[in-house]
Amino acid sequence: MDLPLYLREKVRLVDEALDRFLPAARVKPTTIHQAMRYSIFAGGKRLRPVLVLAAAEACGGIEENAIPAACAVECIHTYSLIHDDLPCMDDDDLRRGRPTCHKVFGDAIAVLAGDALLTLAFELLTKTPPHPRYSTAHLVRELAQSAGSRALIAGQVMDLESEGKAISVRNLQFIHRSKTAALLSSSLRLGAMCANATPKKLVSLTQFGESIGLAFQVIDDILDVTQTTEKLGKTAGKDIEATKATYPSILGLDKSRRVAASLTQKARSALEPFGRKGEILHALADMLVGRDH
Ligand code: IPE
Ligand code: IPE
Ligand code: MG
Ligand code: MG
Ligand code: MG
Repeated sequence: MDLPLYLREKVRLVDEALDRFLPAARVKPTTIHQAMRYSIFAGGKRLRPVLVLAAAEACGGIEENAIPAACAVECIHTYSLIHDDLPCMDDDDLRRGRPTCHKVFGDAIAVLAGDALLTLAFELLTKTPPHPRYSTAHLVRELAQSAGSRALIAGQVMDLESEGKAISVRNLQFIHRSKTAALLSSSLRLGAMCANATPKKLVSLTQFGESIGLAFQVIDDILDVTQTTEKLGKTAGKDIEATKATYPSILGLDKSRRVAASLTQKARSALEPFGRKGEILHALADMLVGRDH
């Protein structure tokens, strides 16, 4: 299969939908809508919405029905990046190849742009046509849990609280599962729900998502050490500077790479019930572990 073509097509669909769903830049007060659009359309990989659409497809769903959920996860992700970059958090100047939201719009508007994207995500979920198995409330609960203080926020809190500390691999794994894997796994689950998936398929996709989600953050940690700022579109070497607890800092680069590869294998084996319908998800798993930015 032609994965680059598949990705281009899905990213185009998601971008068009986001353009429709976000308030226009001229809507009052224009500053906030400009800031939301600045960060959303800064050229992210759109990995999470692609996972929503790919999961829906693997479960035999209608793609259009999964578009609002795909946009909702990208809104959550982008909000989390805007806040992650703030001076009180990771204090980053560059994101997606551009100055960070707070550098352009100031801290207050960046906080509010994040808040607005977080809120918009839940409004978007209500645009999903309801299914016999999964109501809108199911979708809302799913996203609220993966974005909440037992998952994404938990990970962000522990990430900050672990700066400069020697933590165990177990605790690091907990951080990475929470701050990153939870939303990736939820993206797959939401796609499956929008396709009215059977509980068995939902379980498989959850396992797939948990493994590739953890692998994704392990790779993010590796790339921070091995890639350039130009390639990443965000400041390289930031984790060492901030004395973050990361896989390379605790296990070294080689072992971290082996962990990512073995998690990807584990993810792929979770796709067994999908047979040939899992082809795209297999290809996405390989792309994620092999990525260079
Ligand atoms: C970066 O995510 C933050 C992490 C959770 C590792 P991505 O690497 O998916 O960032 P974008 O969306 O492509 O900018
Ligand atoms: C970010 O992790 C995770 C979330 C935003 C939830 P990082 O802090 O490692 O992400 P980057 O490296 O700044 O993209
Ligand atoms: Mg961070
Ligand atoms: Mg960061
Ligand atoms: Mg990082």
